[in-house]
Amino acid sequence: MNPADYLYLDHAATTPVRQEVWEAMRPHVMGGYGNASSLHRFGRDAKKAIDRAREQVASLINADPRDLVFTSGGTEANNLALRGSADSGRRILASAVEHHSVLRAAETITEISVDAEGLVEVDRLESELSDDAIVSLMHGNNETGTVQPIAEVAASCHDRGALFHTDAVQSAGRIPIDVETLPVDLLSLSAHKLYGPKGAGALFVRRGTRLAWQMRGGSQERGRRAGTENVAALVGFGEACALARRELETENIRQSQLRDAMEIALLNTVPGSWVNGSRRSRLPHILHLGFPGVEGETIMLGLDQEGIAVSTGSACNSGSVDASHVLLAMGQSHAKAHGGVRISLGRETKESSIPRLCESIKRVVAASS
Ligand SMILES: Cc1ncc(COP(=O)(O)O)c(C=O)c1O
Repeated sequence: MNPADYLYLDHAATTPVRQEVWEAMRPHVMGGYGNASSLHRFGRDAKKAIDRAREQVASLINADPRDLVFTSGGTEANNLALRGSADSGRRILASAVEHHSVLRAAETITEISVDAEGLVEVDRLESELSDDAIVSLMHGNNETGTVQPIAEVAASCHDRGALFHTDAVQSAGRIPIDVETLPVDLLSLSAHKLYGPKGAGALFVRRGTRLAWQMRGGSQERGRRAGTENVAALVGFGEACALARRELETENIRQSQLRDAMEIALLNTVPGSWVNGSRRSRLPHILHLGFPGVEGETIMLGLDQEGIAVSTGSACNSGSVDASHVLLAMGQSHAKAHGGVRISLGRETKESSIPRLCESIKRVVAASS
């Protein structure tokens, strides 16, 4: 098959680097090789590029640039938020549908159950709150797209003296985030989910939040995260955030409509299929469907043969055939939790791809049931 005919519907796993992002990065990959800690002109140029990137990333979430700590990605940002809080004496509460970079960040984490749509059980969470807790509740789920009531939960946490962290890796650039009005203490971001390069991310740390810094060494990131900065990746992250901010509103509406059209078409194509996750509170780009009697892996591999890339859940777990911990937490049986397929849209996804996707899914489901 001609690569131009591939249909990539796995944007929740990662997104392609945008041309504009690469153009911004290129001079820092080839020519501008300075170390941002050096005091000569090479170093000063690198430092200037990082400062600009910090402003661009901060402006996507309306933060003060000084409150961002650059990291190697979402995993490190989540680890920093939770390990950094645990090391300063806090106990961790997290919803059962968090990404593994949250659920496996520390030895002891109290998991809070979710309902059948994947929404956290707020009463259960509130009953566990205390002033020595940190709560981690993701903004938008990477498997089902369900958007959690983070403003409400963050406010409850503060009423009880607890800290609040949100993993906004999937939601940033897709739905508005304003940390001036959203009472979060810590918020994680990742560049490669919004058309930036892999290996760059950030943790927003609200001024005054106590955190034990994890990466020790040099005084980069004002002593909060040591290590020579990946200047090109950070520049790409900044550019990706600036573009995402500019296009957020139009792409949000366009992708939501496209997702809805795709959902209707697929539900009509495969009788008995269903939607996993919340339909009233969800990200615009993720659609998670279940198909009766067929394993998600079978559909994913069958679609791959037809040049269509989807996922059975979190990409970090594909390769293993474990049932999704997210669907299990939502109360689904092992059999059902094996049946899910995640279709995630992006800037390049067009309405014209819907008939092809439906035809292919119809063929794959018919061949395997
Ligand atoms: C919700 C969520 N959090 C965290 C991560 C990890 O981010 P990164 O790949 O930048 O380490 C991912 C990536 O799959 C994710 O979807």
